[in-house]
Amino acid sequence: MSEFLCIANWKLQGSKALLASYQYQLSTMVFPGVLPVVCLPTPFLGLWQSCTSAALAAQNVDAFDEGAVTGGVSARMLVDVGCRYVCVGHSERRELFLEDDNLIARKYIAAKRCGLQPIFCIGESLAARAAGQTEVVLRRQLGALFNAEGFDAVEKHAIIIAYEPIWAIGSGEVATVGAIEEAFGFIQSACQRAGQQATMCYGGSVSADNCSALRTCRGLEGLLIGKACLDWDNFERILIQCSGY
Ligand code: PGA
Repeated sequence: MSEFLCIANWKLQGSKALLASYQYQLSTMVFPGVLPVVCLPTPFLGLWQSCTSAALAAQNVDAFDEGAVTGGVSARMLVDVGCRYVCVGHSERRELFLEDDNLIARKYIAAKRCGLQPIFCIGESLAARAAGQTEVVLRRQLGALFNAEGFDAVEKHAIIIAYEPIWAIGSGEVATVGAIEEAFGFIQSACQRAGQQATMCYGGSVSADNCSALRTCRGLEGLLIGKACLDWDNFERILIQCSGY
C-alpha cells in the first residue's frame, strides 16, 4: 500500500524560521505509513534540503516551459530545485488569479511532461452545493482536464485528486465523512470511465482535532492542510494521528 499523503500547503504564509523548524523536525522524526508533502512558497523552494522522510512541493507552476515570461516559474525549474509535487487548480488560484479550466489543464500537462506530479484540486462552492450542482461542477472540472489537448500523451494511469469543497476551505467548517465519501464515489467513477486510477485526498479545515475522524473516510489516501500546518506542533499532531491510524 502506498503512503498516506499529509500535504502541508503554507499558501502566502510562513518564513525561513518555520522552514527551519520543519526541516529539523522532519529530519529527526519518522511517521510510518505517512509521507509529509511540504508545499512551500516559491522563494523558499530552493532553500529546502532534501530529506528521505518528506517530499517537496510547489503551490503553482506556469503553463509555459520557458522563454520571455517575466515572473514565470517552469515545471523544469521546480524539478531542478527538488520538487516532486505541485498543486494545480486550487480554488484560490481559480478565484484570485482567474485561472480557468483550460489554463489549469495546460499547467497540469506542463508539470507531467517534466515528471512533476500534480495534485489536482477540485471542489464546489457553497452556492453550487445549495443548488444541488456539486456533481455538475466536479464533472466539468474533471472533464476539462481529461479532454484537454495533450492530456492523453502525459497521463498514463495515476492521478492525485484533492477534493476541496470551497465552503470548507479556511472556514472551520469541515465536510462530513458522508459528504466526502459521496464526492469521492462520484470522482472515482468519473476517473475510472476515463481510464484513470485516482488517489483521493480531502482538503478544507483539516485540523489535529478532526483528522482522526476524517481518516475513517472510505477511499481517503491523503489530506491537504492549510491553516493547521502553519505551526509545526499542530502539523506534527496530524502526522502522528495519520501515522497511527
Ligand atoms: P485550510 O486550507 O486547511 O486552511 O482550510 C486548505 C487548502 O486550501 O488547501
